[in-house]
Amino acid sequence: MTLSSAPGKVYLFGEHAVVYGEPAVPCAIERRARVGVQRRDDGKLRVRADDLSLDGFTVEYDGTTEDGPDINVSESLVSAAMGYVDGAIEQVRDVTGEDEAGFDVTIESDIPLGAGLGSSAAVVVAAIDAATRELGVTLEAEELAERAYQTESHVQDGQASRADTFCSTTGGAVRVEGEDCRTLEAPDLPIVIGFDGGAGDTGQLVAGVRELRSEYDFAADTVEAIGDIVRNGEDALADGDIEEIGRLMDFNHGLLSALGVSSRSLETMVWAARDAGAYGAKLTGAGGGGCIVALDPTPETETALSFTPGCEDAFRAELADEGVKRLE
Ligand code: MEV
Repeated sequence: MTLSSAPGKVYLFGEHAVVYGEPAVPCAIERRARVGVQRRDDGKLRVRADDLSLDGFTVEYDGTTEDGPDINVSESLVSAAMGYVDGAIEQVRDVTGEDEAGFDVTIESDIPLGAGLGSSAAVVVAAIDAATRELGVTLEAEELAERAYQTESHVQDGQASRADTFCSTTGGAVRVEGEDCRTLEAPDLPIVIGFDGGAGDTGQLVAGVRELRSEYDFAADTVEAIGDIVRNGEDALADGDIEEIGRLMDFNHGLLSALGVSSRSLETMVWAARDAGAYGAKLTGAGGGGCIVALDPTPETETALSFTPGCEDAFRAELADEGVKRLE
């Protein structure tokens, strides 16, 4: 058995706009997906997934049958998760030239599914890394990130950026603009996360922004304005100016909200964080539900969020300096 893990991430700035070539700055956090892979001789793919949501569930899924898994999150989320694993294994067969290779895949994750913390990217990166190593091939980070991106892009009908998969591969804070992906110096950020227990459908949310953008010039301008916020955010990160980073996160959230990807619970959590004195707060990832990210070195925001109706979990997240980890 070969085991790899990869971290989730929050977006400090730039989700959605990054799909249209604007820059984005996601930052990896110490919440990981761990994927164990064992080669099978019969060419089949069997996937076992534990705790893909914070509530936890178990799904035994055989990629070759129609049997529905017995779980407590929506079926579309599970089939999406399994689609990512299938896609990752396709990439593994392609890059190793072992077209008939079968695998037992075990996934454990403490990143909630579809909640804006990059669960799918983490699973895909760890799965490709573990399965290629199981076949005796160790990929360079660049190739691993590219293969993971191709997987996400395929599952999301071509509507994906390289941000999630690159960040999960390298760890730390990164900057992604089109195909240009690089790591960034970032100060130690006091990240607090609020989770509403829900999830958004990334494909649908991305499609919604795409429609707005093609219908209204001001929506296209909004996407460009997010790019401007990201460029300012990079300067603030380089200066270690956390107050300014927070102010720009607030601005970024307002524009995401204007693009229709926020939700009542995300707004409630963002305002709870701001009222508690956070430097700034915004939704993270595709939106529609899921998580917000706030910056607050004091315990106030985490406490306020834990008492906020609609917030199911509030926690502090450490920056993950390391991306993919080769465990066994
Ligand atoms: C989803 O985590 C982030 C989006 O920008 C989509 C993407 O970049 O692929 C909404």
